[in-house]
Amino acid sequence: MVVEHFLEIVGINKSFGSVQVLKTCSMTVAAKETVVVIGPSGSGKSTLLRSINLLEPVDSGDIFFAGENITRERKKAHLLRQQIGMVFQNFELFAHLSAVENVMLAPMKILGVSSADAHDIAVDLLRKVQIPEKADAFPDELSGGQQQRVAIARALAMRPKLMLYDEPTSALDPEMIREVLDVMAELSAEGMTSIVVTHEMGFARRAADRIVFMEQGEIIESASSDQFFGGTVNDRARRFLDQILH
Ligand SMILES: Nc1ncnc2c1ncn2[C@@H]1O[C@H](COP(=O)(O)OP(=O)(O)OP(=O)(O)O)[C@@H](O)[C@H]1O
Ligand SMILES: [Mg+2]
Repeated sequence: MVVEHFLEIVGINKSFGSVQVLKTCSMTVAAKETVVVIGPSGSGKSTLLRSINLLEPVDSGDIFFAGENITRERKKAHLLRQQIGMVFQNFELFAHLSAVENVMLAPMKILGVSSADAHDIAVDLLRKVQIPEKADAFPDELSGGQQQRVAIARALAMRPKLMLYDEPTSALDPEMIREVLDVMAELSAEGMTSIVVTHEMGFARRAADRIVFMEQGEIIESASSDQFFGGTVNDRARRFLDQILH
């Protein structure tokens, strides 16, 4: 296959019992692109992200990552996940580890990096997410926004080629949303290929190259950011957008 796209999803289907959650979904993501995925609750956004890093096996269809068909590579799933960073709504930090230890863990355990080197990497990343002073703090001593930035640093410690964010700011108090989005926008600007499920349309406007709209398991719209915000948008996507903006 010619590598035209960094990530290519071709007609994936997924059901849970009798409910079809992904209906022949196709999308492509180019290297360095940031794609924002929006859509009503239950439309399949999380399932789409989880199928990309093989947390959720699909029933049919194909997923190509960096030119390789990864869809049925269950045995290689752990290798793949090293290249794909994922950030969740609820941070999921290790409560018994400090911020710096949370970031050090995967490079040490999975890549075999020495503790001194992992510490250097972690300190650099905590600086990158703007909380170098919190290195020794434990998760319960950090605000939600700080915890989420540690989670981003932890994902970056594996030097991922793709970042997936699943509603990374929806559990945060409003005043902390911005600091997390700023870090994500900076990573995107630096060329980190990213797929972001979020309804923060300010972020989408600022950082997204493309907006994908899902409804009832279908990808209804995939528009460039200019088209989308310029108003050339599918009616159903428009109605949804009106709801979340008002
Ligand atoms: N493990 C599972 N077992 C059974 N059904 C599931 C499972 N995970 C998701 N679903 C169902 O699949 C559908 C899509 O869920 P998904 O979490 O992907 O939606 P979403 O768009 O991320 O929603 P939200 O905005 O609420 O996070 C929902 O109907 C959900 O109940
Ligand atoms: Mg979800």
